[in-house]
Amino acid sequence: MINKSLKLYEKLSLTNVSFNNNFIKNTKKILNSGIYINGPFSENLEKRFSKFIGVNYAINVSNGLDGLILGLNAFKLIRKKKNLNEVIVPANTYIASILSIIHAGLKPILVEPNIDDYNIDLELAKKKISKNTLAIMPVHLYGRPVDFRKLNYFRRKKIFIIEDASQAHGAHINGKKVGSIGDLGVFSCYPGKNLGSIGDAGIITTNSKKLFMITKTLKNYGSKKKYFNDYIGFNNRMDEIQAAFLIEKLKKLRKINSNKIKIAKTYDKYLNSKFIKPKIDNFHNVFHIYPIRVNKRNKFIKYLKKQKIPFNIHYPIAPHKQKALRKIFGKKILPITEEIHKTTISLPIAPYIPKKKIKEYCLKINKYND
Ligand SMILES: Cc1ncc(COP(=O)(O)O)c(C=O)c1O
Repeated sequence: MINKSLKLYEKLSLTNVSFNNNFIKNTKKILNSGIYINGPFSENLEKRFSKFIGVNYAINVSNGLDGLILGLNAFKLIRKKKNLNEVIVPANTYIASILSIIHAGLKPILVEPNIDDYNIDLELAKKKISKNTLAIMPVHLYGRPVDFRKLNYFRRKKIFIIEDASQAHGAHINGKKVGSIGDLGVFSCYPGKNLGSIGDAGIITTNSKKLFMITKTLKNYGSKKKYFNDYIGFNNRMDEIQAAFLIEKLKKLRKINSNKIKIAKTYDKYLNSKFIKPKIDNFHNVFHIYPIRVNKRNKFIKYLKKQKIPFNIHYPIAPHKQKALRKIFGKKILPITEEIHKTTISLPIAPYIPKKKIKEYCLKINKYND
């Protein structure tokens, strides 16, 4: 039912059309070189992305989930005590953030979000600190930066910070970009992301030489030197084709983000206030998505379909309510998270959609009666 509308929600071929030719040229170079992994394009992307985010190091990885698992494993290798095994995470994130904690053999401690910006409530998070807290994983959800000025409290308590920046490439507060705040930042480059590739890919960022060395080694079988293994590592590398594509897309990222921001501002201006719209303030939200909240979502969906307005739902079921996690979270009740999952719906925000079309959507949506 949703799938048909999803195809129209964003056509990635249109998002990516402007740099196809450069990418094809570079793909030929890769084919001719015979270097398909750990080559010059990967190195080039790491240099460019670290510069873009404003950090000392970037480490290309296979995808966002693997990047988070690698980061948490790196913390485990350098933690002071074995009992440090809890990671504080927002309850309303995409399930991957929580899965990464479980896959790393750690315990997710769910925290409710703020209802006004959907990001983790850091005052509540403070109360969840225990003698076992290893790390906090703020997630810059939907493209909006977490108010990271409040993270100093956790830093002072020697709690590691791993930012899940998978939805927020280029988001910042007063010029300080997400991915440059924590001990580690992790970006997904899944095709639908603002910096999406043509397959699975991800990037870790850090200012720490130690964490750079460990994550870079861990992703490559725990090996710094071929056939010599220092850690029980993984195979989490990014291939040259993805790197070549991401280099071209990174050149366009500012434009992609600014187009999405313009669309968000158009919705904000023209959509009726009976819909709960995302907060717009001086935080540089890159609007990976544009979520609104409506009470009778199913009825609203029927209306959107009738009006031929594409949509998506991020996300229909809260992680703690998923069958996969029932054993871990039992009957946990998280009212704010549940309310968001019940009422949220994402409107089209692909960067190529003209302002005129968005205005047209708004006028139709405003006529909806619930
Ligand atoms: C918040 C968040 N964390 C982690 C991930 C995992 O990234 P990937 O799909 O590249 O593994 C995603 C995206 O899928 C995400 O949205």
